[in-house]
Amino acid sequence: MSTPTSVQTDQKTERRKLFIKSYGCQMNAYDATRMADVLAPEGYEETTDVAEADLVVLNTCHIRERAAEKVFSELGKVRVLKEERAARGLDMKIAVAGCVAQAEGAEIFRRQKAVDLVLGPQSYHRLPDMLRNLSNGSRIETEFPAEDKFDHLAAPSREKVASRGLSAFLTIQEGCDKFCTFCVVPYTRGAETSRPIEKILGEARHLVSAGVRELTLLGQNVNAFHGLDEKGNTISLAQLTARMADIPGLLRIRYMTSHPNDMGQDLIDAHAHQPALMPFLHLPVQSGSDRILRDMNRKHTARDYLNLIKRVRRARPDIALSSDFIVGFPGETEEDFQGTLDLIAAVNFSSSYFFKYSMRPGTPGAEMEEQVPEEIKSERLRRLQDLVDGQRHAYNDASIGKVVPILFEKKGRDPGQIAGKSPYLQAVQVQGPDLLIGRVADVLITEALTNSLRGTLVGEQS
Ligand code: 5AD
Ligand code: SF4
Repeated sequence: MSTPTSVQTDQKTERRKLFIKSYGCQMNAYDATRMADVLAPEGYEETTDVAEADLVVLNTCHIRERAAEKVFSELGKVRVLKEERAARGLDMKIAVAGCVAQAEGAEIFRRQKAVDLVLGPQSYHRLPDMLRNLSNGSRIETEFPAEDKFDHLAAPSREKVASRGLSAFLTIQEGCDKFCTFCVVPYTRGAETSRPIEKILGEARHLVSAGVRELTLLGQNVNAFHGLDEKGNTISLAQLTARMADIPGLLRIRYMTSHPNDMGQDLIDAHAHQPALMPFLHLPVQSGSDRILRDMNRKHTARDYLNLIKRVRRARPDIALSSDFIVGFPGETEEDFQGTLDLIAAVNFSSSYFFKYSMRPGTPGAEMEEQVPEEIKSERLRRLQDLVDGQRHAYNDASIGKVVPILFEKKGRDPGQIAGKSPYLQAVQVQGPDLLIGRVADVLITEALTNSLRGTLVGEQS
């Protein structure tokens, strides 16, 4: 959660406190910042203390059952605070935003009566209007609106951008048309759409002029990006990153999350030729079994994925790869699971995320017979975790002795320490001066800890 900063308001605007908690993916984290932006002109200042908030927004995630259920337990706690404030004559409004709001809609009011507003991921630009009209307006917005929310969001002040750090997210594409049989995203985020190039570049320029040095371009299917430029030409992700790299002051560009079937040759080539594009690729494969991949509706085989990885590594040999895996998808046998372990062993990922399959209402997977028992899922998850952790440690250990350019982002935990990231998305700490924050310097990696690397400064890059 970012620290509160003051916002400019006109004299008539009351000052109020806003607490936002975001769950789930990076796009939700980005949306939370944009909700704060749209509420700032209304007089809302962010607070990290929920008890003093006039407005609490829970920006929710629906991807797995556990994520969705967290919302209701959190709402129970917020309700108590709302009652305590009411006893002191103070008001607190509660809004449920994000993917649970989209999926559950009015059901949320039924399950938790203290909730005032429910709004989906495409409607949060309407928050100020909804708040103004609480007594007589709609308390729920979960239709996919005709207008583009991005056209109705206030830009954050330069101070606000600076308070959020040197590395920022920027949504360029949203929604998904792939309909993997396990996934709620096509239902909660809607159809795949790409933002227009000028809007994206305008937002990127604003962020960089306020001090951002690294941008991560976000999309549920980011490499399927096909935005229109000012002349009406369709621009690919690789063309967009090439244009973005011209923004003075922008040092590093990343993107996530990609689908293997949308990994075009121009994007692979971009990793060879565009210095600002970082050598890191998050490319979820989900399973190493062709039978399971087919039932997941992934529309590629394990061999297709391995061949793709070969092409990516040919273009950029040092690229770090990460992936998402699901264990216990309906019908997954020990042999299918072994296929996943074999694929992981064959690729050698720098890091990975793994999940037990979670039945999501309304998805085809939830209707499938042969659901895998929970104990088997847990046992497979443990085996997968061991393999993936081993690869991550080996990857980090292999960095020792190398000189790596680090973009420093903030002070470190210990006095005199500064912290940043390697091109391969590893956290790195060194003893060094604060004036290096916002700059790239070469670091000799000397030690690999559990979740980060340590090193010594070798010299600053021009
Ligand atoms: N159960 C478990 N994991 C899931 N994911 C998406 N849907 C489910 C589900 N129903 C995982 C996928 C995806 C990541 C964001 O979450 O691995 O890539
Ligand atoms: Fe979900 Fe990704 Fe598949 Fe889209 S491509 S349905 S977001 S897993």
